[in-house]
Amino acid sequence: MDHLIALAAEKIAAAAHPVSFSGAGLSAESGIATFRDSADKDALWANFDPQKLASQEGFIANPALVIEWYNQRRKTLADAVPNMAHHTLAAFRGWTHITQNVDNLLETAIQESGADSSTVLHLHGTLLEDHCNAGCGYTEKVDLKAAPSLRRCRCGDYMRPSVVWFGEALPELVMQSALHQTENADLMLVVGTSAQVYPAAGLIDIATDKGADVIVVNTEASGVTGANIVELVGPAGEIMPQLLRRV
Ligand code: OAD
Repeated sequence: MDHLIALAAEKIAAAAHPVSFSGAGLSAESGIATFRDSADKDALWANFDPQKLASQEGFIANPALVIEWYNQRRKTLADAVPNMAHHTLAAFRGWTHITQNVDNLLETAIQESGADSSTVLHLHGTLLEDHCNAGCGYTEKVDLKAAPSLRRCRCGDYMRPSVVWFGEALPELVMQSALHQTENADLMLVVGTSAQVYPAAGLIDIATDKGADVIVVNTEASGVTGANIVELVGPAGEIMPQLLRRV
């Protein structure tokens, strides 16, 4: 493992245009449940039906249930703090951070380090905002500690969390920016994702196809294949600081 960490650190130090691509495993050590980690008994999609809780059909069928479920997750997030994996990414100055996570822990770590957190691209939206389900364009910031229960927008339809549900398109400008950054990247650091959900996971394919160095940090072997891949198997909160020390 030590020589792999040294090799990964060498590649990071040499990279001119590095990006990170993260998933739920990045926040797991902060107490945020993953979706489909086989080692996590609280993994969300092992215990809940995504079609009931994270789809337009599910929301129409039982809007109050969906809002309550998201508000439970918001409560957990309100008490969570960034872990060493977030702090390590924050220390990589000048990087673009592409994430599938809907929490704000990476931004918090970046802000705590004194840097600008607008370099975080949320492909799947955020728990910190609601918008009108009818698409009238109205949005509202949400206080994680006191998230409102089911309520109506000014236009009469329901408000809903600003996260991407199954069957919905990713936010267009964010995806365009993530594509652009990935196409220009010479290194991608992939942290804590099962890489199963497309189109987001397709960014890893773009990086590997163009021959960028790809470093994968995950508690399990990732299955990502390609010529320039370094796999670091273990908890991100332990591996990432070791990586940082060597860069
Ligand atoms: P998953 O839950 O699918 O995968 C989490 C990954 O993190 C797994 O590969 C685990 O092995 C790994 N992992 C768990 N703990 C870890 C740790 N401490 N350190 C490193 N790795 C760890 O989460 P995502 O890949 O993010 O979509 O899932 C992608 C999307 O599927 C989510 O954004 C969400 C979900 O449906 C939406 O909400 C639209």
